[in-house]
Amino acid sequence: MAEKESHIETSMEETKKYSPPEEFKKKANMNDPGIYKYAEENYEEFWAGHAENLEWYKKWDKVLDWENPPFAKWFVNGKINASYNCIDRHIKDGKGDKVALIWEGEPIDESTKYTFNELKEEVCKFANGLKELGVGKGDVVTFYLPMVPELAIGLLACARIGAPHSVVFGGFSPTALADRVHDSESKVLVTADGYYRRGKKLNMWENALESLESTPTVEKVVIVDRMGRKDLELDDSRDVYYHKLVAEQSTECEPEQMDAEDMLFLMYTSGTTGKPKGVLHTTGGYLTGTMTTFKWVFDIKDEDIYWCTADIGWITGHSYLVYGPLANGTTTIMFEGSPDYPDKDRFWKIVEKYKVTVLYTAPTAIRLFMKWGREYPDRCDLSTLRLLGSVGEPINPKAWEWYHKVIGDSRCPIVDTWWQTETGMILITPLPGITDLKPGSATRPFPGIQADIFDAGGSPLEPNQGGYLVLKRPWPSMLRTLYKNPERFKKTYWSEYGINIYFAGDGARKDEDGYFWVVGRIDDVLNVAGHRLSTMEMESALVDHPAVAEAAVVGRPDDLKGHVPVAYVILEGGRTGSDELAKELIGHVGKIIGPIGRPAGVYFSEDLPKTRSGKIMRRILKRLEAGEEPGDTSTLRNPEIVEELKNRVQ
Ligand code: WTA
Repeated sequence: MAEKESHIETSMEETKKYSPPEEFKKKANMNDPGIYKYAEENYEEFWAGHAENLEWYKKWDKVLDWENPPFAKWFVNGKINASYNCIDRHIKDGKGDKVALIWEGEPIDESTKYTFNELKEEVCKFANGLKELGVGKGDVVTFYLPMVPELAIGLLACARIGAPHSVVFGGFSPTALADRVHDSESKVLVTADGYYRRGKKLNMWENALESLESTPTVEKVVIVDRMGRKDLELDDSRDVYYHKLVAEQSTECEPEQMDAEDMLFLMYTSGTTGKPKGVLHTTGGYLTGTMTTFKWVFDIKDEDIYWCTADIGWITGHSYLVYGPLANGTTTIMFEGSPDYPDKDRFWKIVEKYKVTVLYTAPTAIRLFMKWGREYPDRCDLSTLRLLGSVGEPINPKAWEWYHKVIGDSRCPIVDTWWQTETGMILITPLPGITDLKPGSATRPFPGIQADIFDAGGSPLEPNQGGYLVLKRPWPSMLRTLYKNPERFKKTYWSEYGINIYFAGDGARKDEDGYFWVVGRIDDVLNVAGHRLSTMEMESALVDHPAVAEAAVVGRPDDLKGHVPVAYVILEGGRTGSDELAKELIGHVGKIIGPIGRPAGVYFSEDLPKTRSGKIMRRILKRLEAGEEPGDTSTLRNPEIVEELKNRVQ
């Protein structure tokens, strides 16, 4: 991990349904504050009680196996299917005609709804199509798609046949896609001919094609016809259109009986080294965790219309747009477009159109809405909203207040939810109706979760002292490992304080009421508009350019995006920096990582602050960018460079 700072400022037996024991039902009344105590003292029983709400082919022999930390097993030997539990279970319960998925396209007049019955048909058809392409249990399928219904359908189709999915965010570059396909050894790639962005038609197929040049494992490519393009040159032995693949397929597909610990999906995320990490989630625990937290954090009722604005290319879209809501039989909305197209009121038009009751979005979006002004939400009827959620980064109190007042009409509670790709589910959050809120704090750990703040040496800190956020006990939807890299899994998360303490990589403090205040990443990961980016990945992209000898990327605080990446660059001998070269480098990084990775600025410098062993001290650059004093420079080989850079940055 990154160097640490000494302190931080701031067949259902066959179809038998297991009903939770009466005793548990009583105790699991989450409206009772005593639930915290109960879950604390009986956390395995607590999670088992929730798992009983799912339908299992075979129940588990043991709730948790934590004998070989950090490799946890939950619901040992249980057999279950996630797709069945997100769809068929509700049909069996008489909800077949309820709307499961609402899709709103970017063009204002384009939308679709799928009832649970219809969703089942689509999922089965795609699942059968994938089988026809040779996809079987355990074969990873990569998705590189915009926010089209086929993406949600695709996840559930994969889950149905036991093929783990790996979704790569559509904004990533061909290189980033190729890296992820390569690591997961996917044989099938699902992509699209293009997508809409603010009314413009953008290519996607070209990116996919470019990445296919370096991904020899891919045997079949499924193409969603989003734009009706006629100019695609297909390789008939490899490429097939989605609509052709599914046209003749049966609308029935027997779900595969999966072991609770079988892989459900991979989600690549940025880490402290250049290579993205394949975070591996399994079936039974993940579904239990996301179903339960979704229900309780959003206090979900059967009639709710829920909208999570995240892209399915990120974990939030997996856990709280697809699996969490559908496991609860909740109507979930998926939006293809941008908040400002055709106008800056698009989000609020959607809330009005579908009578959204629960909205889950990110602070970066809220800050943007604040900047645009309240005239846009004020044009729309938002009176159906009853609960608001926030995720992805710390929400500053000013944005919290605005969200609460302008969007929530001072009526709707806000649930500020802390979690990560690795945690799979929300871990620190208020429970509406129980927890008193403090703007800016994600409040308390979810029942059964043990979080704490440790100092660098591993001792728990007193209230209000800044330190490192840790989790002291396993939870059902925790990542099980990093794909094909158990050593890196151990080293990254479980070696800082001992093999059973999870190191989250976030700086935080706990106040006198036990409320958690998360400051942000303490490693080389940047949170840019709620997206995790690796500074190392950006640095590798920069030095890939022939003009660059060395580079350091750090985050600069930004009013809208939280942080933006800025690059400090030392050029190859004799070259001098220019605006043109800066633009070229920004474009180069954008090409390698994708548009979201483009640095906001480039500084050219003769040298960078380095330790005597030659390591770049990024921490000093970070402080300069934040407008702070650089701190102790005595261990530097070249302290004089700090003054020079300081004058230039400020
Ligand atoms: C940050 C997104 C403060 C944190 C679900 C974490 C937050 C990283 C919050 C994970 C929050 C997420 N308050 N910080 N409510 N939620 N974070 O993997 O730094 O994309 O480690 O998962 O986002 O980002 P990831």
